[in-house]
Amino acid sequence: MKKIAVITSGGDAPGMNAAIRAITKSGIYNSLEVVGFEDGFQGIIENRCIELTYSTVNNIIQLGGTIIGTARSKEFMTQSGRLKAYQNLKNNKVEGLIVIGGDGSFAGAKCLLDEFDIPVIGIPGTIDNDIEGTDYTIGYDTCLNTIVEAIDKIRDTATSHHRIFFVEVMGRNAGKLALNSAIASGAEDVLVPEQDQNIEDLAKILKSLNKGTRSSIVIVAEGDELGGASKVTQLISPFLPEYDLKYTVLGHVQRGGNPSSFDRIVATQMGVEAVSCLLDGEKETMIGLHEGKVFRSSLSNPIYRTRSLNNEKIELLRKVRTLK
Ligand code: F6P
Repeated sequence: MKKIAVITSGGDAPGMNAAIRAITKSGIYNSLEVVGFEDGFQGIIENRCIELTYSTVNNIIQLGGTIIGTARSKEFMTQSGRLKAYQNLKNNKVEGLIVIGGDGSFAGAKCLLDEFDIPVIGIPGTIDNDIEGTDYTIGYDTCLNTIVEAIDKIRDTATSHHRIFFVEVMGRNAGKLALNSAIASGAEDVLVPEQDQNIEDLAKILKSLNKGTRSSIVIVAEGDELGGASKVTQLISPFLPEYDLKYTVLGHVQRGGNPSSFDRIVATQMGVEAVSCLLDGEKETMIGLHEGKVFRSSLSNPIYRTRSLNNEKIELLRKVRTLK
């Protein structure tokens, strides 16, 4: 193998640059030529190929976002789009592709292998931490810290005004960001897509909690079945007429910022491992992190299931709130 390519695909996540850096540096260390395509699969279709060198990736480990851009390509979902992508990979003499992204991006990568026999390696990169086969996805730790910092600030004003706040966080259909930010910020409750919650019961809990606390915070996962924070506030207000209710949608602030040390380290480990996979002749591998160790799994059939929410953690949150 002489030349490899990397793309970032789907929603950006802090730490993606650290992974690009690790792939480039370890690729060059192993005498490979390394290129990146801009804006994910779309950049491959449009042949927007850039050479990645030591100087391109110097001083990017600390940067949020992705220096090569990302996108969710609709054209790549068509066979004609994938054929264009294959032809551009071939014309550029790319022999293996590393995709940093989430599930959808891995499914796209798998098509390139199945249809054109291009070896593909997936590095899990998404703030949602919702990928099967890994305990951890790049960007999740930074995002969690960003959310907790924001909630700490909301707590100050919520307490001063004796208010109940509903704070909406990202995560698509997964509640990991919501649950763990709720625990870390000392929130009173959490609404997650993985568990149904009755709105009247929640109102009763908040009433009883407010006898003992000066404020309450409920974290609402954006994918919760009741709706987002605005909807939940609207639904619960008839049951809490005597309380001052507010909601905040944290939005895309959650996706930005300098990656945490943890994200940088994991991204570096995964990037180096991805290059080793290609050098070892692997064709369809996802890099995962399990019990602190980086390991190889199948891109389409990961060796263990990680998507479900840890119910013990929901219990943990509820055990430590003040309930009169
Ligand atoms: O998958 C990452 C994520 O940030 C989700 O949490 C969120 O639902 C989605 O992407 C938002 O996507 P976009 O930036 O395209 O609106």
